Amino acid sequence: MNAKLSDLKTIETAVTKLMGCQYPIIAGPMFLISDPNLVVAVSEAGGIGAMPSLNWRTAEEFRKAIREVKAKTKKPFAINLIVNQANPRLKTDLDICVEEKVPLVITSLGNPKETIAQMHAIGSKVFCDVTNLAYAKKVESLGADAVIAVSSGAGGHAGPTSALVLIPYLKRNLSIPIIAAGGVSIGAQIAALRLLGAEGVQVGTRFIACTEAKVDEAYKQAIIHSEPEDIMLTKKISGTPVSVIKTPYTEKMGFEISKIEAYLLKNSRTKKAMKMARTYLGSLALKKSILGPTFKEVWSAGEGVGLIQSVEPAAVIIETLVKEYLAIGNSRLHEK
Ligand SMILES: Cc1cc2nc3c(=O)[nH]c(=O)nc-3n(C[C@H](O)[C@H](O)[C@H](O)COP(=O)(O)O)c2cc1C
Repeated sequence: MNAKLSDLKTIETAVTKLMGCQYPIIAGPMFLISDPNLVVAVSEAGGIGAMPSLNWRTAEEFRKAIREVKAKTKKPFAINLIVNQANPRLKTDLDICVEEKVPLVITSLGNPKETIAQMHAIGSKVFCDVTNLAYAKKVESLGADAVIAVSSGAGGHAGPTSALVLIPYLKRNLSIPIIAAGGVSIGAQIAALRLLGAEGVQVGTRFIACTEAKVDEAYKQAIIHSEPEDIMLTKKISGTPVSVIKTPYTEKMGFEISKIEAYLLKNSRTKKAMKMARTYLGSLALKKSILGPTFKEVWSAGEGVGLIQSVEPAAVIIETLVKEYLAIGNSRLHEK
């Protein structure tokens, strides 16, 4: 690994062409974790850094964070908007993305129609998180520039389907580019996902064990020392399954919600308030563990923990992913 990152080739795919970046690697937006520092480091290294608008308490603080990123890099970056009704800040945050000319918005949950229309009007792109074909078809018909296919084993809200099936299945049925998310920690996986039809990857968990991530050291160490089977899905954080590392506290807390709560989360009259209350309580637990130390450890991470061995700067993570990918690419992908 002697070559400098700048010496490495670009990896040209539909995603790098759409965004004008060097590598088709997005550092996925992470609630309470991604900040301008991490975003700038990833984008400057040739990937695309991303952060959720809700990482800031107020819309004005969010606008300041975007301006900080724009002051430190001229390269593309992304903002994540939750586009469902439970997000009271959606309209304001979308207006800010438009005013600040954010190059890429990544939507999750809900209906991205308005976001796509407004971002396209200023020449920016919109990628939509999806976990199944029906929703992927819907966002494609609304004009999404790409889908981010979140598979099982992903950190955060994991999808139900293995990437081994989800990526080629979406590829067979969609015309827009597919970005694979879930479990990616090493370059060989990017090569495999490219063979299956992905035009890029979105990586979350690997960027928690990262020098720039401002999380408690115990969280980073838990990622390095966990095995794939330590990852559990819990509904206790947002009402829908979120991947967490099994700890004495999460085991005690349990992973299922009560029948009454499940009913209230489905009922059209109580759904919105219930979702907001559950998400608020869940985010308090996550926040405590991120800022730590605490014995109430609730650490979100995906199965890719098993392939993560050290805490490194974002630029080194990108460089290693690219070198590992190219090593495989040279020996297998591009064989005549
Ligand atoms: C701690 C954590 C928080 C996350 N928060 C968000 C979020 O706020 N919005 C979002 O769209 N995705 C979120 N994600 C998902 C990531 O952006 C990315 O899609 C996912 O982590 C990819 O799977 P991996 O962790 O296995 O690499 C989060 C993931 C993690 C691990």
